[in-house]
Amino acid sequence: MEELVRQIKAFEEQAGVMEPDAARRRELLSAVNDYTENFLETLPDRPAYINNDEMGRGIYQSPISEQGMAVEEALRIYKENVDDQGLSPVSGKFFGYIPPCSMYYSALGDYMAAIMDEFTGDFSSCPGAVRMEYQLIKWMADLVGYSPDAAKGVLASGGSIATLTCIVTAREAHGLKARDYEKAVVYYTRFTHHCIDKALHIAGMTDCVKREVATDAQFRLDPAALAEAIDNDRARGLDPWLVTGSAGTTDLGNVDQLDKISVVAKENGLWFHVDAAYGGFFILSDLVRDKFTGIALSDSVVMNPHKGLHTPFGLGAAIVRDGEQLYKAHFYTANYMQDTFFDKEDLSPADVSPELTRHFRALRLWLPLKLIGVAPFRAMLSEKLLLTRYVYARFKSLPGFEVGPEPELSILVFRYTDVEGDVNEFNRKLIEAIRRDGAIFITSTLIDNDYMLRFAILSYRTHIDTVDLAIDVIRREVNKLLTA
Ligand SMILES: Cc1ncc(COP(=O)(O)O)c(C=O)c1O
Repeated sequence: MEELVRQIKAFEEQAGVMEPDAARRRELLSAVNDYTENFLETLPDRPAYINNDEMGRGIYQSPISEQGMAVEEALRIYKENVDDQGLSPVSGKFFGYIPPCSMYYSALGDYMAAIMDEFTGDFSSCPGAVRMEYQLIKWMADLVGYSPDAAKGVLASGGSIATLTCIVTAREAHGLKARDYEKAVVYYTRFTHHCIDKALHIAGMTDCVKREVATDAQFRLDPAALAEAIDNDRARGLDPWLVTGSAGTTDLGNVDQLDKISVVAKENGLWFHVDAAYGGFFILSDLVRDKFTGIALSDSVVMNPHKGLHTPFGLGAAIVRDGEQLYKAHFYTANYMQDTFFDKEDLSPADVSPELTRHFRALRLWLPLKLIGVAPFRAMLSEKLLLTRYVYARFKSLPGFEVGPEPELSILVFRYTDVEGDVNEFNRKLIEAIRRDGAIFITSTLIDNDYMLRFAILSYRTHIDTVDLAIDVIRREVNKLLTA
């Protein structure tokens, strides 16, 4: 026994470094804080994209080893290999993909969440943390017009997993079994985000029938074409099951006519899912709220706080109008879970989600909403909408540039066409040149085989001077290519 105790104590001492004392915590926090403060203070002068030939390879040159290193050394490796290369998503000069921008208030929430690490898989472990998550879900449910009492939802790691959660719910609500999949039909458009297809695949439904519905002149799903496709499919003996609408497509930022789709869905007994991952929080702005009419009549919706509300990456909400369906599709239990029923006044997040143990995600959104309120978010989103209209008007008036459809939210597409030769090829080279320059970051897409440059505005750090700078950079790179 004595020997056993001696060995235990020896290991305890060796592992003691895992619990830094107050002085060491202050030292570490001060080093990390100095680092992040320097990052934030120098951010406005940093390019949006840093071309660095090393591409982070130095990470491998410092292997994971038995002994630790000084915090300064770890931060040096981080700076050289992570910070000083590639895209800076938190830069206001990032206009690619969907450009959110993590907030300091959220970072503090994440810091606290990681220290306390409340268990939010089950209600009884930390009812307050679970209620915090449900408060956010109810707030979002109310925003889209679902009854906050009947709706249920969950905070997932992002839009793709939130979408998977909704697709599985729709599958179960329709009572689909594997033998039915080949006849079950899903309706969407060529602008639907690929996370829907991916979710169908992961849900085991690769073999279901996928019907690409025609779009109208504004590239939105055409409700009449949807109704016709459903009739045709039914006549063929197929089982129309799910229609997905977009409240902000990734390509163009356009919003489907959700009210009209909901009518067709209801008449035909389809589950109506809305992908509002990017566009959903624009409902906070008076400028575009009416575009979302009909979202309240959908069966499920995905909204990404890590886009429109600027939390760090890793926050997507799945909300189901009839919460019972979400619960039926996800509830599981086991013998070793029996203690989770202690004082259980509400559902556990694990009952309505694919996850059990999970990050305490709510705090990264709750803390900013508590500290600054909703009003600044409304103003920021309205500013982005108007900035997009401004950029669109500027490109429209610039010689040689061609613009795509009038932007509905905060994404526009454009290209330079006054070239000899292949327009697509010129714009591809233009994107490469802008990437090499790095001052700003934009991306591209194909709209019916036309290579278009996308300009997406979402960051709370993007303002009128930032977009003016971006337009100057783009014009400069066009001129360089033209004279090369
Ligand atoms: C419209 C839309 N839906 C879904 C997603 C997927 O969300 P996530 O990247 O959080 O998985 C995105 C991502 O950009 C999106 O733009």
